[in-house]
Amino acid sequence: MDYTTLEAYPLTSEELEILNYESYFENSPILSFKKFTNLPWEKTQEISQNFKLLKKVIKFEDFSINEIYDVIFYDAFGSHAQPELWTYNCMKKCNNLIAPNGVWVSYCAKGSVRRDLETIGFEVSRLPGPPGKREMLRAIKV
Ligand SMILES: C[S@@+](CC[C@H](N)C(=O)[O-])C[C@H]1O[C@@H](n2cnc3c(N)ncnc32)[C@H](O)[C@@H]1O
Repeated sequence: MDYTTLEAYPLTSEELEILNYESYFENSPILSFKKFTNLPWEKTQEISQNFKLLKKVIKFEDFSINEIYDVIFYDAFGSHAQPELWTYNCMKKCNNLIAPNGVWVSYCAKGSVRRDLETIGFEVSRLPGPPGKREMLRAIKV
Protein backbone atom coordinates (compact mmCIF):
# COMPACT_ATOMS: atom_id res chain seq x y z
CA MET A 1 0.00 0.00 0.00
CA ASP A 2 1.20 3.46 -0.92
CA TYR A 3 -0.62 5.99 1.24
CA THR A 4 -0.39 9.76 0.77
CA THR A 5 -1.90 12.04 3.37
CA LEU A 6 -2.40 15.80 3.06
CA GLU A 7 -2.61 18.29 5.90
CA ALA A 8 -2.72 22.04 5.37
CA TYR A 9 -2.37 23.03 9.04
CA PRO A 10 -0.29 20.53 11.04
CA LEU A 11 -0.37 20.73 14.82
CA THR A 12 2.78 21.92 16.56
CA SER A 13 4.71 19.52 18.79
CA GLU A 14 3.46 21.53 21.82
CA GLU A 15 -0.15 21.05 20.72
CA LEU A 16 0.44 17.34 20.16
CA GLU A 17 1.99 17.05 23.61
CA ILE A 18 -1.08 18.67 25.25
CA LEU A 19 -3.43 16.51 23.18
CA ASN A 20 -1.72 13.37 24.54
CA TYR A 21 -3.66 11.23 22.09
CA GLU A 22 -1.58 8.16 22.99
CA SER A 23 -3.29 7.96 26.36
CA TYR A 24 -6.60 6.98 24.69
CA PHE A 25 -5.19 3.67 23.43
CA GLU A 26 -4.64 0.61 25.57
CA ASN A 27 -2.68 -1.36 22.98
CA SER A 28 0.03 0.10 20.83
CA PRO A 29 -0.66 -0.28 17.12
CA ILE A 30 2.16 -0.87 14.62
CA LEU A 31 2.15 2.84 13.86
CA SER A 32 1.26 4.67 17.04
CA PHE A 33 -0.05 8.24 16.88
CA LYS A 34 3.24 9.45 18.34
CA LYS A 35 5.30 7.61 15.75
CA PHE A 36 2.98 8.85 13.03
CA THR A 37 3.30 12.47 14.10
CA ASN A 38 7.09 12.16 14.43
CA LEU A 39 7.52 10.93 10.87
CA PRO A 40 9.04 13.60 8.65
CA TRP A 41 6.92 15.45 6.13
CA GLU A 42 7.47 15.29 2.36
CA LYS A 43 9.45 12.04 2.51
CA THR A 44 8.03 8.60 1.76
CA GLN A 45 8.54 6.29 4.74
CA GLU A 46 8.51 2.51 4.69
CA ILE A 47 6.36 1.67 7.71
CA SER A 48 6.34 -2.06 7.05
CA GLN A 49 7.12 -4.37 4.16
CA ASN A 50 3.79 -3.61 2.48
CA PHE A 51 3.02 -0.10 3.66
CA LYS A 52 4.59 3.15 2.51
CA LEU A 53 3.43 6.49 3.83
CA LEU A 54 3.96 9.99 2.46
CA LYS A 55 2.79 12.90 4.64
CA LYS A 56 2.52 16.24 2.86
CA VAL A 57 1.91 19.72 4.24
CA ILE A 58 -0.16 21.25 1.50
CA LYS A 59 -3.66 22.45 0.74
CA PHE A 60 -5.66 20.00 -1.32
CA GLU A 61 -6.35 22.84 -3.76
CA ASP A 62 -2.58 23.20 -4.39
CA PHE A 63 -1.76 19.49 -4.45
CA SER A 64 -0.58 17.90 -7.66
CA ILE A 65 1.24 14.62 -8.20
CA ASN A 66 2.16 12.31 -11.02
CA GLU A 67 0.24 9.42 -9.51
CA ILE A 68 -3.27 8.10 -9.43
CA TYR A 69 -4.93 6.49 -6.44
CA ASP A 70 -7.25 3.52 -5.96
CA VAL A 71 -8.94 5.11 -2.95
CA ILE A 72 -9.43 8.66 -1.69
CA PHE A 73 -10.59 9.18 1.89
CA TYR A 74 -11.94 12.70 1.60
CA ASP A 75 -11.89 13.64 5.27
CA ALA A 76 -12.26 17.40 5.03
CA PHE A 77 -14.25 19.44 7.54
CA GLY A 78 -17.87 19.85 6.45
CA SER A 79 -19.05 22.32 3.84
CA HIS A 80 -20.53 24.59 6.54
CA ALA A 81 -16.96 25.10 7.81
CA GLN A 82 -14.93 24.84 4.60
CA PRO A 83 -17.16 25.26 1.55
CA GLU A 84 -14.08 25.78 -0.64
CA LEU A 85 -13.24 22.04 -0.28
CA TRP A 86 -16.66 20.88 -1.52
CA THR A 87 -16.86 22.63 -4.86
CA TYR A 88 -17.42 21.01 -8.24
CA ASN A 89 -13.76 21.74 -9.04
CA CYS A 90 -12.50 19.88 -5.95
CA MET A 91 -14.66 16.87 -6.82
CA LYS A 92 -13.38 17.03 -10.40
CA LYS A 93 -9.84 17.10 -9.05
CA CYS A 94 -10.59 13.96 -7.02
CA ASN A 95 -11.89 12.32 -10.17
CA ASN A 96 -8.65 13.14 -11.98
CA LEU A 97 -6.63 11.66 -9.10
CA ILE A 98 -8.51 8.35 -9.06
CA ALA A 99 -7.89 5.27 -11.21
CA PRO A 100 -10.78 3.68 -13.15
CA ASN A 101 -12.92 1.69 -10.67
CA GLY A 102 -11.24 3.62 -7.86
CA VAL A 103 -13.25 4.68 -4.84
CA TRP A 104 -13.84 8.09 -3.26
CA VAL A 105 -15.37 7.95 0.19
CA SER A 106 -16.42 10.64 2.66
CA TYR A 107 -18.56 11.22 5.74
CA CYS A 108 -20.26 13.95 3.73
CA ALA A 109 -23.80 13.20 2.53
CA LYS A 110 -24.68 16.61 1.11
CA GLY A 111 -27.03 16.51 -1.88
CA SER A 112 -25.15 19.09 -3.95
CA VAL A 113 -21.86 17.17 -3.49
CA ARG A 114 -23.57 13.93 -4.49
CA ARG A 115 -25.01 15.55 -7.61
CA ASP A 116 -21.62 17.07 -8.58
CA LEU A 117 -19.95 13.65 -8.16
CA GLU A 118 -22.59 12.10 -10.41
CA THR A 119 -22.26 14.85 -13.03
CA ILE A 120 -18.49 14.32 -13.06
CA GLY A 121 -18.99 10.64 -13.80
CA PHE A 122 -18.86 8.82 -10.48
CA GLU A 123 -21.35 6.11 -9.57
CA VAL A 124 -22.50 7.33 -6.17
CA SER A 125 -24.03 5.32 -3.31
CA ARG A 126 -25.41 6.53 -0.01
CA LEU A 127 -24.11 4.29 2.77
CA PRO A 128 -25.08 4.13 6.45
CA GLY A 129 -22.89 6.65 8.24
CA PRO A 130 -20.71 6.27 11.35
CA PRO A 131 -22.33 6.69 14.79
CA GLY A 132 -24.16 10.02 14.88
CA LYS A 133 -24.37 10.35 11.09
CA ARG A 134 -27.25 8.85 9.13
CA GLU A 135 -25.55 8.64 5.75
CA MET A 136 -22.22 8.99 4.02
CA LEU A 137 -21.17 8.89 0.37
CA ARG A 138 -19.17 6.41 -1.66
CA ALA A 139 -18.35 7.28 -5.25
CA ILE A 140 -16.82 4.86 -7.74
CA LYS A 141 -15.13 6.11 -10.89
CA VAL A 142 -16.80 4.18 -13.68
C1 LIG B 1 -11.89 16.39 9.62
S1 LIG B 1 -10.17 16.73 9.83
C2 LIG B 1 -9.48 15.13 9.42
C3 LIG B 1 -8.09 14.94 9.85
C4 LIG B 1 -7.54 13.53 9.68
N1 LIG B 1 -8.10 12.81 8.58
C5 LIG B 1 -7.76 12.77 10.94
O1 LIG B 1 -8.57 11.84 10.98
O2 LIG B 1 -7.11 13.10 11.93
C6 LIG B 1 -9.84 17.75 8.44
C7 LIG B 1 -8.38 18.15 8.32
O3 LIG B 1 -8.19 18.88 7.10
C8 LIG B 1 -7.23 19.89 7.33
N2 LIG B 1 -7.41 20.90 6.27
C9 LIG B 1 -8.11 22.05 6.32
N3 LIG B 1 -8.08 22.68 5.13
C10 LIG B 1 -7.36 21.90 4.30
C11 LIG B 1 -6.98 22.02 2.93
N4 LIG B 1 -7.37 23.06 2.20
N5 LIG B 1 -6.22 21.04 2.40
C12 LIG B 1 -5.81 19.97 3.15
N6 LIG B 1 -6.15 19.81 4.47
C13 LIG B 1 -6.91 20.76 5.03
C14 LIG B 1 -7.55 20.37 8.73
O4 LIG B 1 -6.45 21.06 9.30
C15 LIG B 1 -7.90 19.07 9.43
O5 LIG B 1 -6.75 18.50 10.03
